Amino acid sequence: MSDRYAVIGNPIAHSRSPFIHARFAAQTGQDLVYDRLLAPLDGFAAAVQAFVESGGCGLNVTVPFKEQAFALAGRRSPRVEAAGAANTLSFDSNGWTAENTDGIGLVRDLTARHGVALAGQRVVVLGAGGAASGVVLPLLEAGVRDVLIVNRTAARAVALASRLAGGAGPQTAVVGRGLDGLDAESAAGALLINATSAGLSDARLPIADEVFAAAAFAYDMVYGARPTAFLAQAAALGCPRQADGLGMLVEQAAESFRLWRGVAPQTDPVYRQLRDEIGRA
Ligand code: ATR
Repeated sequence: MSDRYAVIGNPIAHSRSPFIHARFAAQTGQDLVYDRLLAPLDGFAAAVQAFVESGGCGLNVTVPFKEQAFALAGRRSPRVEAAGAANTLSFDSNGWTAENTDGIGLVRDLTARHGVALAGQRVVVLGAGGAASGVVLPLLEAGVRDVLIVNRTAARAVALASRLAGGAGPQTAVVGRGLDGLDAESAAGALLINATSAGLSDARLPIADEVFAAAAFAYDMVYGARPTAFLAQAAALGCPRQADGLGMLVEQAAESFRLWRGVAPQTDPVYRQLRDEIGRA
């Protein structure tokens, strides 16, 4: 029987992970099946347990269960500890191990696909929720110069920055502020990453026009057929480069696949296929 994997979340019908992992499996000759699992909002642990009992080997975890996946796992990687959230669970005779591949996915998309040199780069992360906390440590590990976390609720940004500052080297600052603390000076030459959930509802972030003009690159973790409100704003206001999060989605999946199967798939063909399909949707 094929090894079984799945993505678990609520809602889950929209997830592109089964398509991505099926392409990776075909490409690398791995014998596996990968499904979607809809867990009740109050039934994550029970759904995970049932999956193991039916012989499941690994899960990708998505909204709103990433924090629960962190709590459930017996073993956690340093990235999971830093994020307080997990998107990848692997099951073996010792129980569940939790990983978080979101940040590695972002770093690979930025560096390998978009040619962004992260060493010495100033980064501004918009948002201080689960999406933001998952990516800061891998950005620090990639050698960025400093990270400014800005959030609508300033206290969350300050708390996240002080929690993550321990992962930074002595030369690297991690600072948290309210959104109103983001100005052209602090955004000068920066990689501006939207990790808020505002884009999901197409809400515009209250960011000054000069911030977009000053930034070097605008990245939205959300993706879609058309540029998100954030990316459209960045382009209209003179930010020279923009990218959405489709590449991050494919790269985080590739890292989960590598952890489970010990083989790294080619991501570009899958990325291009998804981009074509989304564009036609
Ligand atoms: P996720 O796991 O997707 O990050 P989350 O933990 O609920 O979800 O965090 C959502 C993030 O988007 C938060 O940083 C939130 O700001 P607050 O902490 O102030 O709530 C941010 N966010 C959501 N909608 C927003 C909006 N319309 N404007 C600004 N920030 C927004």
